[in-house]
Amino acid sequence: MLIRRPADIPPSEIMSREAYLNRRQLMAGAAGLALAASLPGTSQAASLATVKSSFSTDEKQTSLQDVTNYNNYYEFGVDKTAPAAHAHMLKTSPWTVKVDGLVGKPAEFALEDLISSSALEERIYRMRCVEGWSMVIPWDGFPLADLIKRVEPLGSAKYVAFETAYRPEEMPGLQSMFPVLEWPYVEGLRLDEAMHPLTILAVGLYGDKLPNQNGAPIRLVVPWKYGFKGIKSISRISFVEKQPVTSWSRQAPDEYGFYANVNPSVDHPRWSQGTERRIGEGGLFVKRRPTLLFNGYAEQVAELYSGMDLRKLY
Ligand code: MTE
Repeated sequence: MLIRRPADIPPSEIMSREAYLNRRQLMAGAAGLALAASLPGTSQAASLATVKSSFSTDEKQTSLQDVTNYNNYYEFGVDKTAPAAHAHMLKTSPWTVKVDGLVGKPAEFALEDLISSSALEERIYRMRCVEGWSMVIPWDGFPLADLIKRVEPLGSAKYVAFETAYRPEEMPGLQSMFPVLEWPYVEGLRLDEAMHPLTILAVGLYGDKLPNQNGAPIRLVVPWKYGFKGIKSISRISFVEKQPVTSWSRQAPDEYGFYANVNPSVDHPRWSQGTERRIGEGGLFVKRRPTLLFNGYAEQVAELYSGMDLRKLY
């Protein structure tokens, strides 16, 4: 098992939340000053101050170059290089995330407030795309559960629905006569999946703010599911009673399910899911790696699905 479990972390690495936030503010302040001094006249953000997470893998990380130039973000085109070329068109500041539906405290959070009131962690996760490739990405973010607790879901809330911003004037893919998907992009999780400690909202990667092509300013990361569950540039999170519609399962229900758990023994109708190509690992002749059940996170998440037929609920 490649994941460090909480028991392996020396007490010196564990801090109270209050001490952590104080330290973060100090570090962010210092980093901001240093950056302001080195970049006169620019408004570039300071790098993010995070603590390391016990949930990180120690596998070799995919290069920043590959993580930011081999993307799926269909609002900016269908080629892997299109998001890097066009996503700068999206204005990510100011940004708010509306949280509504079956909650006691609905709210509209300004992104800066969400970041400054959250304990940011670095989470180095294996990511597996449904198309058969994978990466290892050092995300910076916070548990989605932290946000969920703040809005106090009602007992009737069973699922969480997510929506990407809908901005045709800033997203060329939304202007197309033949759209690939129905917009806005929507995704969903069962409430217990959303509350799971591995599920995070990412606001950065490689210690810096999230590049637009990776879903700035805030996106979902669920490492045991295929990449399409990781909805980008989230503007709304709603708590609902019934399983919400999700973009890819609406588009092709026989190919993409609501759960989308990584599962080498349930093939896609048009290709095997048994192996994967790790991006950055050399050319065509490099051996593909075996794909692991729940992308290698089975020990943490398998119990969420006990008793379920994963061939039917794919
Ligand atoms: N979110 C939106 N809004 N639009 C998209 O097209 N693509 C999904 C997911 N989130 C997508 C999205 C798919 S198919 C994948 S594999 C991941 O984003 C890719 O994330 P990355 O480019 O940061 O690796």
